[in-house]
Amino acid sequence: MKNNSLNKVSQNEVKKNEAHRKRIAIFASGNGSNLQAILDYSLKNDINGDVVFVFSNNPDAYALIRAKNANVKNFCLDLKNFSSRQLYDMEILKIVKSENIDLICLAGYMLILSSDFINEYQYKILNIHPSLLPSFKGTHGIKDAFEYGVKVTGVTVHFVDNELDHGPIILQEPVKINDKDSLEQLEEKIHKVEHKIYPLAVKYFCKDELKIIGRKVIINERG
Ligand code: GRF
Repeated sequence: MKNNSLNKVSQNEVKKNEAHRKRIAIFASGNGSNLQAILDYSLKNDINGDVVFVFSNNPDAYALIRAKNANVKNFCLDLKNFSSRQLYDMEILKIVKSENIDLICLAGYMLILSSDFINEYQYKILNIHPSLLPSFKGTHGIKDAFEYGVKVTGVTVHFVDNELDHGPIILQEPVKINDKDSLEQLEEKIHKVEHKIYPLAVKYFCKDELKIIGRKVIINERG
């Protein structure tokens, strides 16, 4: 009897979590094509979440215009107005918390988040990187792979931890580099794959379908 009632409580808990639509924030410094891909996908598919907030460190980011066009609350803070990165990040954290954000997606966000920020949102921050990690970390993942001469590169979506481009990997997809590909053609192929797999990873997160075991992320799609 006792066990039964305990079971009921935990089943209700699972249902409650599933029902809770996730509030998604996207951090972007530039064009925001990944922001757009997540927005579009979330409007056409049931991902159990909504993009409710866009943040940028760059007042000229096209991502902010995309957010405005989609009627999504958006915000920009200029790092120049803060005496330290720490204070800057704490201000962002305050805003994100006041918006009750469940998931932060970095999408071309060009600043490295401070560890205090990351620790507050542990396993609730995703990033997309334009290479097959752990190869070609850093700001120029596509160019570095192209110039290195690899025949296959790709895209990675991963959780953010305190090391650059390092956290547990959720999804990866390879992209072939053909002999005749120019850097621009490769960029185009990479972005196409990014726009396909980032929204998927967001959906898995929002539907509580991701389980992290050490460095491994198991996807438990429930359909
Ligand atoms: C993407 O290539 C992403 O992988 C990298 O930054 C770029 C952002 O592009 N982290 P966009 O601003 O989403 O168009």
